[in-house]
Amino acid sequence: MIKKINRPSALEGQIRPPGDKSIGHRAVMLNGISEGKAHITNFCAGGDTLATISCMKAMGVKVRRPAPDTIDVVGVGASGLKEPQDVLNARNSGTTTRLLSGILAGQPFVSIITGDASLRSRPMARATEPLRKMGADIIGRDNGRFAPLVIRGGKLHGIRYELPVASAQVKSAIILAGLFAEGETCIVEPGPTRDHTERILAGMGAAVRTSGRTITVSRIAGRLNPLSFTVPGDISAAAYWMVAAAIHPKATVDISGCGINPTRTGVIDILRSMGTRIVVRPADGTASEPTGDITISSSELHGTEARGDLVVRSIDEVPVLAVAACFARGVTTIRDAQELKVKETDRIVHTIQELSKMGARIDELPDGMVIHGVGRLHGAEVESHGDHRLAMSLAVAGLAAEGDTIIKGAEIASVSYPSFWSDLEKLSTTFESGRR
Ligand code: S3P
Repeated sequence: MIKKINRPSALEGQIRPPGDKSIGHRAVMLNGISEGKAHITNFCAGGDTLATISCMKAMGVKVRRPAPDTIDVVGVGASGLKEPQDVLNARNSGTTTRLLSGILAGQPFVSIITGDASLRSRPMARATEPLRKMGADIIGRDNGRFAPLVIRGGKLHGIRYELPVASAQVKSAIILAGLFAEGETCIVEPGPTRDHTERILAGMGAAVRTSGRTITVSRIAGRLNPLSFTVPGDISAAAYWMVAAAIHPKATVDISGCGINPTRTGVIDILRSMGTRIVVRPADGTASEPTGDITISSSELHGTEARGDLVVRSIDEVPVLAVAACFARGVTTIRDAQELKVKETDRIVHTIQELSKMGARIDELPDGMVIHGVGRLHGAEVESHGDHRLAMSLAVAGLAAEGDTIIKGAEIASVSYPSFWSDLEKLSTTFESGRR
């Protein structure tokens, strides 16, 4: 699919972002191993979360979708999953593959999990190594480094594991295996990563404790209680409208019901440090997750520097933050972002490559980029490289660039944000025609 974007006269209106993708995956997997029925609202049925649903269904979990953004998950209990009859297909989803590997490691059966070409090139040893240490038998291409992964689950024992990379997916894989392991499993994080797994599990009655950067989990004693909740809006999806409003000369966008879990709000902190006019009003949270309403208006941006924990807390937002930095005045430096190289694509290389076509001046670093902001970009023909976050970031650039931007491979946005293109239309006002 090809999308043509040009700068609307104004960007105005209210957006309710789709349900958080990370939380959606966990809602399906964790309720799938609970005992009973959970009702989940504001669930975003994107390509990634639908992959998780089909994998859990293949193991006997019943998932119904009574409305487009509502699911009912009927859990089979901690020992109720069935051996899948075929290979599990995680499609484009690293979260599905790594988190599910943790659950599969604890099951008394054999399973095989794979995905599309992008997923099959992503590093899996970070998850398979600790799971092997816990007693799982896992083989995969290149000695377990890449999917397809063949997992012979079984008796696991708890370990103490220091995570070499700050990764919520790996942390969660070990926590989930820990639910099936003898003894305590203890994980030490190098920095704070998203803690949705811990929060949902605590709400289900699991023995999960966090103390500083150490998470301890014990085997499920008896049962996990199902947890019904409304998924908070995805801050990673809202980030596109935050940046679009900040860089467009005539914009005010209200974002309602957005997740503002502190492990995810790096994007707000970075945009603020660039001079963005952004107001966050805390609202009633949902299922132990804080939410808020956010208003962003056109801003005069300047360069900034982001590194360390701040980058971990905004890792998925770096491509769209790079767009903001192009429209800022001065230099923005992003460091400690080497994880971007192993996302759905190499997001350092592709962000630089595509934004350069629009006139950006960006230097590549091994762990980030230096963006020389000149306050503008021009339209160009650009390519998503099959990466949802790149497609949406380029669309945001197109909303403020001079001239037309043509985005090839635009359909990939549906992996995390199926209504992205219609929300973009909704916010765009064209005075000439008077149409929204
Ligand atoms: C996710 C964790 C992050 C993030 C990804 C979703 C999760 O990945 O980039 O989009 O749901 O746990 P890493 O764990 O690889 O950092």
